[in-house]
Amino acid sequence: MANGLDDVVAADTVLSDVDGAGGHLTIRGHSLMELAGRWRYAQVVRLLFDGFFDDLPSDTELEKAIGNARVEVFDRVQPMVAQLAPLDIYSGMRAGMAVLPDGDGLADALRLIAAQAVLTPALLRLGRGETPVAPDENADHAGDMLRMLSGTASPALAKALDSYLVTVCDHGLNASTFATRVVASTQAGLTSAILAGLGALKGPLHGGAPGPVIEMLDAIEASGDATAWLRKEIAHGERIMGFGHRIYRVRDPRADALKAVVRQLGSRSETGSRLAFAETVEQAALEVLRIAKPQRSIQTNVEFYTALLLEAVGFPKEAFSNVFAAGRVAGWIAHAREQQATGRLIRPQSRYVGPVPDLVA
Ligand code: ACO
Repeated sequence: MANGLDDVVAADTVLSDVDGAGGHLTIRGHSLMELAGRWRYAQVVRLLFDGFFDDLPSDTELEKAIGNARVEVFDRVQPMVAQLAPLDIYSGMRAGMAVLPDGDGLADALRLIAAQAVLTPALLRLGRGETPVAPDENADHAGDMLRMLSGTASPALAKALDSYLVTVCDHGLNASTFATRVVASTQAGLTSAILAGLGALKGPLHGGAPGPVIEMLDAIEASGDATAWLRKEIAHGERIMGFGHRIYRVRDPRADALKAVVRQLGSRSETGSRLAFAETVEQAALEVLRIAKPQRSIQTNVEFYTALLLEAVGFPKEAFSNVFAAGRVAGWIAHAREQQATGRLIRPQSRYVGPVPDLVA
């Protein structure tokens, strides 16, 4: 039976490699640990885009171009953003992105990066009855996202968010990247391809898990007994959010990268105690999963510490998938361009297992 395309190689890529057995992530020749906390998001965008766009500017110029794109997108979506505010925050962002031009150039790519950074804070503010804050083209991307969200951005929180965006910028041929490449292979524009990625990322088996991680932590805190709570969930056939991965059989390296960022913020007392509690829950979950599913190595994935980090920088849990998309969009765009360059339509086969018509003599 066709089964989730496990082990099928559907693309050659220079962009990233996920070593599931060793627990390593390589992004264009660099290990995640080399990039996370050291490179800025604009630098990683440049790394991923190199060779896929003509006239790619320097890192500094690219950061400025992304700032200009934030201003352009804000002006473009401002007349309609209030109409999107009643939608759930992910649908609002997706709808706002759908009005962007559908070309294949660098300007199109930068608008798509800018759009998520601009739309999510604007929609959150409107939802709270506040006026959206306009972007500052000279600010760094992550810092400006936080400033548009809450009016200010401390350098420590901006750096934490920037590290997050870098950590999730690309990750092999995951479901949303594959969806992006399928649409790009039809030579549809980048906006169409990114909308496909956004659709795939939404589900809880992919990028929709960190919001439920917060709900789980809150429920466990209220119950007072992590192991009993987790055992009950498993007994009811539920999945523990933030654990397990199709490729990783060891700990997801992004979990450690993000945990280190949360730990750095931990001097802020609320974050520190939240982290200590999450670590206890993590240990309990790993033990419960080890006993309940001995045939499978189920380890902590990226979403567990994503939840803590995004909570600490000030995003509400409903917007966590939006922020994930704001980092991953760079990888999606690079994959879309890489796929377009092959000129090859992705068109697999299905096996028909339905009823057959009677043959007419
Ligand atoms: N909690 C409980 N059981 C689990 C979990 C989990 N988190 N993950 C896997 N399992 C169990 C399944 O129930 C199944 O058990 P069974 O054989 O007794 O039926 C077995 O492990 C294999 O499950 P599959 O769905 O085949 O494993 P797969 O490798 O496809 O799962 C997935 C990957 C979908 C991410 C899964 O681990 C999961 O649902 N995790 C929870 C949601 C989550 O954290 N999603 C974010 C993933 S990271 C990302 O996409 C960015």
